[in-house]
Amino acid sequence: MQVLVTGGAGYIGSHTLVCLLDQGYEVVVYDNLINASAEALSRVEKLTGKTIDFVQGDVRDTDSLDDLFATRSIDMVIHFAALKAVGESAQCPLEYYQNNVHGSLCLLEAMAKAGVNNFVYSSSATVYGEANPSPYVETMNLGSPSSPYGAGKVMVERILLDKARANPNFRAVSLRYFNPIGAHPSGDIGEDPTGIPNNLLPFITQVAVGKRDKLSVFGGEYSTSDGTCVRDYLHVMDLAEGHVAAIDWLATQPSFRGVEAFNLGTGNGISVLEIIASFEAATTLKIAYQIVEPRAGDLPAFWANAEKASNVMNWRAKRSLDEMMEDAWRWQSKNPNGYS
Ligand code: NAD
Ligand code: UD1
Repeated sequence: MQVLVTGGAGYIGSHTLVCLLDQGYEVVVYDNLINASAEALSRVEKLTGKTIDFVQGDVRDTDSLDDLFATRSIDMVIHFAALKAVGESAQCPLEYYQNNVHGSLCLLEAMAKAGVNNFVYSSSATVYGEANPSPYVETMNLGSPSSPYGAGKVMVERILLDKARANPNFRAVSLRYFNPIGAHPSGDIGEDPTGIPNNLLPFITQVAVGKRDKLSVFGGEYSTSDGTCVRDYLHVMDLAEGHVAAIDWLATQPSFRGVEAFNLGTGNGISVLEIIASFEAATTLKIAYQIVEPRAGDLPAFWANAEKASNVMNWRAKRSLDEMMEDAWRWQSKNPNGYS
């Protein structure tokens, strides 16, 4: 079976490629490399001993997509390609809607032309918005996330529902990721943010490797156990396996039509201070930090109800917080400057 992976050179995409190739899937990667390096793909090839069919291109380039579908026998599409900096999305909303929403529409149109009906979408816990209580369950209504990034994720989920209503052959899975962290246990692929990291773990590992002086902990007076924000962190390899579970599920449910959403999280809430303590325990390093003002748009606490993915797709996050920290650190210490 041939799987088209848009954004496959990125953080989650590259880890998913390892799992897909290990499971015997053929992959075609389509990525414009706006936030990734082709080196990630070379490393995936080395790790798996398999060759990747890579096409450099933009999901908004409809001619290039038509050509891609015409020259290959693609059965399923996993759509990772997107811009993902939440803060930046508030500064350049049009760029985010253009890339993430219009890009998804172009891809869905190219799929429709080519008669490809199987779609796995990279959604986010952010679609639950601010009003839903945790743990988030898939039966909750989609919320109204405050950022253009989050609003775009909701829009694409809605587009998928409408597309499925209009096209009785369409089959889609929306995977709502919680907070992926860590890296492949080899330390050869991992998260390689450009500039100052927005996300917690890359910032911590850059403090540990000496690239940043100290971590700013955003807010210390939330109504959580220790006053800092709580999230549901999961190992990126567990998340990657969640994509294989989704592909396998679609492949083994030929009569399924429509859209099914799944939370991909552990079901456990962990605070920022717990993350720091756990990184220090796993690596015996000290992380200098200071509690500062809350970050605009941050929710105090959210985590998943992860039962549906377990009951329906037989997927469960298996790796421990220690493994997440050890693997994140192995990647950062082996590659202090990422892929460059
Ligand atoms: P990433 O930036 O590492 O990967 C995205 C990839 O898409 C990059 O390789 C980039 O070059 C490519 N890309 C971007 N725009 C493109 C375009 N127009 N055409 C072709 N390629 C394009 O990000 P990631 O962390 O791997 O995230 C993957 C997906 O998961 C995104 O859709 C993101 O919104 C979603 N997501 C990520 C997280 C997270 O915490 N990392 C959480 C929830 C959802
Ligand atoms: C953010 C996005 C979410 C997106 C995800 C992955 C927001 C509100 N949410 O999730 O939509 O899917 O990134 O891109 O931006 N923290 C610090 N110091 C730091 C960095 C983070 O204290 O330097 C804290 C944050 O306040 C948060 C936690 O660490 O409580 C995790 O932050 P982060 O990794 O940015 O993820 P989210 O904010 O949960």
